[in-house]
Amino acid sequence: MEYQTILNQIENEFKDSKVSGKVASYIPELAKVPADKFGMHLYDLNEGHFNFGDSNERFSIQSISKVFSLALAMKVIGDDLWNRVDVEPSGDPFNSLSSLENEGGIPRNPFINAGALVVADVLVSYFTNPKAALLTFLHEITGDPSICYDETVAASERSEGYRNYALVNYMKSFGNIENDVDDVLDFYFHQCSLAMSCKELAQAFIVFANEGTTLESEREILSAQQVKRINALMQTCGFYDEAGEFSFEVGLPGKSGVGGGIVAVHPDHYSVAVWSPPLNPKGNSALGMAALERLTTLTGYSIF
Ligand code: DON
Repeated sequence: MEYQTILNQIENEFKDSKVSGKVASYIPELAKVPADKFGMHLYDLNEGHFNFGDSNERFSIQSISKVFSLALAMKVIGDDLWNRVDVEPSGDPFNSLSSLENEGGIPRNPFINAGALVVADVLVSYFTNPKAALLTFLHEITGDPSICYDETVAASERSEGYRNYALVNYMKSFGNIENDVDDVLDFYFHQCSLAMSCKELAQAFIVFANEGTTLESEREILSAQQVKRINALMQTCGFYDEAGEFSFEVGLPGKSGVGGGIVAVHPDHYSVAVWSPPLNPKGNSALGMAALERLTTLTGYSIF
């Protein structure tokens, strides 16, 4: 596959385009990121690395981190996790509180904030130092020990984190949060602050394209069944109330973050990460979605 030619074409098609969208401003630190950043990195199981633009620059991965925390929670508590969080698409915005009241404090899925906060609670219960455990996990799957939290972004999110405080308190009232609310939120705000580049994200997500095994070090991180489940959740829930649109346009499992990053996986083929900060009204990178649509259209392959 001529991946580099296709990536060059995508860069040329979009680099001067006026894409609508707004850089996230509800976290003050994110509002400072230049809107014209644009990069993409594709990591193919057989053919290696392809990229363009700002693909080596680190940015705030935000909700993309929910895939890593979910993978770690599945490893440490297994199927018990599903007693506390469901696996259904929500059709609601990422920070919605609405279904929790009727559903007894059980979040619809692990990728909406409510679900990710339950996953955070699981990790806070299991590990003495959950922030260190998540970093160790990331260092293991990327082979890069320099990946770290951005304390300024974490503090910035905490300063405006009223919805997430509401979600944890509300779920605690139903008995679905075991730990102190501040401990759960401290972990969650830190996981969202992780700074990674498109290249590092593609490297981390190659395990989801490679049945759970890292490519270079050949370490089995997750079982094939765990990878199947995580990819299924990315497909059905990775884009909140735009999961249908992402499936329709791109046709790959993926996960977005309000930092403007999107990672997608073509199982048994490649992982790909794209970064463009302006978000569409559903909170997903407008240009990122368009670029991935071009990737699966120009290659002629998606999972469908
Ligand atoms: O909980 C929040 O508001 C953010 N830290 C994460 C949100 C996010 O990235 C949603 N995804 N598109």
